[in-house]
Amino acid sequence: MQTTLLKKLIQGIPKAELHLHIEGSFEPELMFEIAKRNKVSLDYDSVESLKKAYKFNNLQEFLDIYYVGAKVLLYEQDFFDLTWAYLKKVHRENVVHVEVFFDPQTHTDRGVKFEVVIKGISGALEKAKKELGMSYKLIMSYLRHLSEEEAFKTLESSIPYAHLIDGVGLDSSELGNPPSKFVQVFKESAKHGFKLVAHAGEEGPVDYIWEALELLNVVRVDHGNRCLDDEKLVKTLINKKMGLTLCPLSNLELKVIQKMEDHPVLKMLEKGLLATIHSDDPAYFGGYMNENYYETAKALDLKKEHLMQLAINAFEISWLSTEEKKNRISEVKSYFEAF
Ligand code: HPA
Ligand code: ZN
Repeated sequence: MQTTLLKKLIQGIPKAELHLHIEGSFEPELMFEIAKRNKVSLDYDSVESLKKAYKFNNLQEFLDIYYVGAKVLLYEQDFFDLTWAYLKKVHRENVVHVEVFFDPQTHTDRGVKFEVVIKGISGALEKAKKELGMSYKLIMSYLRHLSEEEAFKTLESSIPYAHLIDGVGLDSSELGNPPSKFVQVFKESAKHGFKLVAHAGEEGPVDYIWEALELLNVVRVDHGNRCLDDEKLVKTLINKKMGLTLCPLSNLELKVIQKMEDHPVLKMLEKGLLATIHSDDPAYFGGYMNENYYETAKALDLKKEHLMQLAINAFEISWLSTEEKKNRISEVKSYFEAF
């Protein structure tokens, strides 16, 4: 499909973003603005020099910079501004539903109260619901490079705000930090009514995906790129109707794949996996939802049918009610029929 037409098609798809770290949507311009008003110094003297540092050879190199950026977030207003900027931006891309990750430990470990973080983020999500008509869910992610005991402390801090949280996730440095490290805290989180997801098989091996399924009982796998290495796993994921939230530009920037043409999402769709496309940390990886759809479609020569399937899958594996899913999926279908 011709570039302008493809971009127009993608722009108009009603989209669900299910794999987005709110701290990863922190654009350098806003980061510098908040740093200035909070009188926090960044290790970089300009937006340009910071952007130049956004070159990563692996997940850890990215995380090292991502945690530095988050350090300027101190007050409820900062978390609100970060989240509101993100929501306004993706509303313009016709993202109608978001399921947003936040990393409480990145902030509480610096002395910022859990309450400050969650009130700021939730306030912006509520505003987007009222003013932009967006629906949302919120996912609290445990940092897997820290201990399970630390995750338990985070779970405890979250209890007074449990009504604002829909699920828990597992992110940060994957290699050497398998899902099996967090079995007890995931069990306990489920008892509080939280849905469970985990990053698995981004850099880590297929065993980590198996562990996420069998030991953590996740309802969705974040990334899951490596599942194609194991035919039995693919069958299991299909039988379980397990969603996989792929992030193509993230995969490219973190060298999970060497070029976009190598991205596994098309193979996954062809096998019948519930694969979807998302943006992960868009401020760091060079694109939000539309760019992720566009770059993937271009490299893999995706057809209209594939794009429709990706958009439908995202609503299918979302945490919207059955009724809301049905409505969104028929909106997607009507959009493609009319295009
Ligand atoms: N992987 C793991 N942890 C993360 C990521 C990611 O892509 N982004 C933010 N935390
Ligand atoms: Zn992620």
